Amino acid sequence: MVNSKIAGIGFYVPEQVVTNQDLMQVMDTSDEWIQERSGIKERRYGKKHEETPTTMAANAARIACERAGIKPEEIDFIVFATLSPDYYFPGCGVLLQRELGITHKEMGAIDIRNQCSGFIYSLSVADQFIKTGMYKNILVVGSEMHSMGLDFTTRGRNVAVLFGDGAGAVLLQPTTEEGKGILTTHLHSDGTYAEELALISPGSHGGYHLGKEQFGFPDALYGEIFVYENLIENKTYYPNMNGQLVFKTAVTKFPEVIMEALNKVGMTPADIDMLVPHQANLRIAQFVQKTLKLPDEKVFNNIMKYGNTTAASIPIALCEAWEAGKVKDGDLVCLAAFGSGFTWGSALIRW
Ligand code: ACO
Repeated sequence: MVNSKIAGIGFYVPEQVVTNQDLMQVMDTSDEWIQERSGIKERRYGKKHEETPTTMAANAARIACERAGIKPEEIDFIVFATLSPDYYFPGCGVLLQRELGITHKEMGAIDIRNQCSGFIYSLSVADQFIKTGMYKNILVVGSEMHSMGLDFTTRGRNVAVLFGDGAGAVLLQPTTEEGKGILTTHLHSDGTYAEELALISPGSHGGYHLGKEQFGFPDALYGEIFVYENLIENKTYYPNMNGQLVFKTAVTKFPEVIMEALNKVGMTPADIDMLVPHQANLRIAQFVQKTLKLPDEKVFNNIMKYGNTTAASIPIALCEAWEAGKVKDGDLVCLAAFGSGFTWGSALIRW
């Protein structure tokens, strides 16, 4: 039986630290509000015009490849999770291929559009390709550059204060070692609340889902819908979030999908050596920890330093935990995420 193992892991966060005090200079917010509601103290922002989700991913990927003992040219397939891509199309997967210098080689690259659960979806996709024997070296990355597209006025404060930039990467390889590697992955979605955490425009929706009047579409011509006249004025190109609905749903779905994974392999929360939850909000992670009755040393959080880096948050946290010696050979590691879509998922890995 072939499983996928994480042969190498790396992460990259930009140098520039942005504190809650920095945000207080541009919007009506406070360090106390942000820390109390989310646990975040600071986050990183990429260098304008110099860094992108692709360049950050390349930095993380090079470390993951080096730790796996392979050269980037040996990668067979790239799975790239992001909600903040360099371009609307083509995807970041091919840009990363070019950035890593893997040109003039035929390989595969896909982008995964699953926001906060993007990394777990990507890991699961890559795992299937390894299990079928199709690929031997798959690079899975999550990378986000939120700072380029947040509303830094008081109007956007409920979202802007939560997010940060960064990238994480793992290099997956097959292993035949009994009981090692990715043991199981579980993916879920429910589109009922798609617009409750979303970036609606630009897009090809034409007002279909929400009513065309609010977008000022009645007289729009073909070619005037994807980017429409009132877009800049309405500021609908910023993400919107129903924070309380996301919070309430997340604290139910996290434990549910973790238990689903544990049940699948006949284990219980007590068997988990390290839980690395998606870093959406420290309060959500603490709620999940309490529900599963896990001690502090079995849950890894770093949202305090980086904010929510969406698809990058799990590989960044997993890598930091591993570098700190908190994830060791033979440990049972549980990954879990919930976010926009809504989508959610979990993975159990025997390290
Ligand atoms: N600074 C100061 N005040 C603020 C800010 C801010 N940055 N943002 C909102 N407020 C104000 C609101 O205007 C509101 O004021 P009012 O009572 O005068 O109207 C008040 O704070 C309370 O606002 P709520 O939105 O009700 O605050 P809540 O307690 O729900 O906390 C939060 C908001 C932190 C977003 C919370 O709902 C949450 O954590 N939700 C989960 C969503 C999440 O984590 N999203 C991350 C992305 S999705 C994911 O990764 C899962």
